[in-house]
Amino acid sequence: MADSRRVIVTGATGLIGRRLCEQLSAKGYQVVVFSRDPQKAQRSLPGAAEYVAWTPSESGPWASAIDGAYGVIHMAGAPILGKRWSEAYKAEIVSSRVIGTRGLVNAMRAAQNKPRVFVSGSAVGYYGARDDTKLDESAAPGSDFLAQVAIQWEGEASKAEELGIRTVLVRTGIVLDPSEGALPQMSLPFRFYGGGPILPGTQWFPWIHIDDEVGLILLALEDERARGPLNASAPEPQTNRDFSKTLGKVMGSPSWFPVPGFGLRILLGEVAGMLTEGQRVIPKKALDLGYKFKYPTSEQALRQLLKK
Ligand SMILES: NC(=O)c1ccc[n+]([C@@H]2O[C@H](COP(=O)([O-])OP(=O)(O)OC[C@H]3O[C@@H](n4cnc5c(N)ncnc54)[C@H](OP(=O)(O)O)[C@@H]3O)[C@@H](O)[C@H]2O)c1
Repeated sequence: MADSRRVIVTGATGLIGRRLCEQLSAKGYQVVVFSRDPQKAQRSLPGAAEYVAWTPSESGPWASAIDGAYGVIHMAGAPILGKRWSEAYKAEIVSSRVIGTRGLVNAMRAAQNKPRVFVSGSAVGYYGARDDTKLDESAAPGSDFLAQVAIQWEGEASKAEELGIRTVLVRTGIVLDPSEGALPQMSLPFRFYGGGPILPGTQWFPWIHIDDEVGLILLALEDERARGPLNASAPEPQTNRDFSKTLGKVMGSPSWFPVPGFGLRILLGEVAGMLTEGQRVIPKKALDLGYKFKYPTSEQALRQLLKK
C-alpha cells in the first residue's frame, strides 16, 4: 500500500517548490525533498521528513525512495529566464526536464508499491506564441523552442498513466511572487517612475499568483478527478499593456515608458520572445473542477503581493 502522506518533491528548493513544501507540511504530508544538493536543501528548506540526493538521470539510488510514496511532484528544471539561450544551455533546459521526468517514471515502473499520483510541471509555453484566441487545455501546441520542450516533457510524464498512475501536467503561467521571479523585475522601473509595457503590448500575459499556483498543484495532488493537462494561470489574463497599466495603478506610478521588443532581443537574445510574445490562457479545467481562485484579477494579486 502506498503511504497516504508521503510525497516526493523535486525542485523543492525553487520559487514554486518552497511555497508548495510549506503548504504540504502544513497539511500534514511527509515531504521528501529530492535535490541535487540535499545538504543545501536542508539548510534552505528545513522541516521536511527526508532529503534525498537526486539528479535528472534515467536511474539512481534515489529511486527506492519513490517506492510506497503516495505522490510525486516534479518541479525541477534548469531556469528558463535569466540566462542567454546558447545551444548548450538550450540542451540543458531540455535534458533537465525530459531525462529527469523519464528517470522518475522509470522509478515508478520499478516500484512494488506505485505512487497513486504524479504531478509534473509544464508551462503555458506549450501553446507557443499566439494571438487573441482563448486557449484552454484542449488547444493545440505551438512549434517554437519552449513549446517543443513542453511537448517532450509532457510526453515523458504521460507515460506514468500507462502504469495506472493518475498523472497531471501543470501548465504554469508567469508566477507572481513578492520576492522572486518576474514581479520584482517588472515592478523595479515603476519604483522610479519609469515603468511601461513591453512592446508590442498587445501580447497576452498569462500570470498567476503564487498562492493559486500552489493551490492548483494541491488540487492536482488531491482531487481524483484531475488528470492530464491543467492550465495554471489566472482566469482573467490581460495583455501586457493592460497588466502594465494595472501595475502602475497599484504602485501609484505611470505606465508611460514602453520597452522596445528589439532592444530586449539585443539584450537577452532568443529568450526575449517570452516577454514580447504570449498566450491568452484560460484555466478551464480548474474552473470546471470548482477551484476558486484567491486572486482572479491582477489588481487583487498585485495589491496583495506588493502590500499596496
Ligand atoms: N516560475 C515561473 O514563473 C514558471 C512558469 C512556468 C513554468 N515554470 C516551471 O515550473 C517549474 C518550477 O519553477 P520554479 O520557478 O520554481 O523553478 P526554479 O526556482 O528556477 O528552480 C526549481 C528547482 O529546479 C532545480 N534545478 C535548477 N537547475 C537545474 C538543472 N540544471 N537540472 C536539474 N534541476 C535543476 C533546483 O533544485 P535543486 O537545486 O534543489 O536540485 C531548483 O530549485 C520549472 O520547471 C519551471 O520551468 C515556472
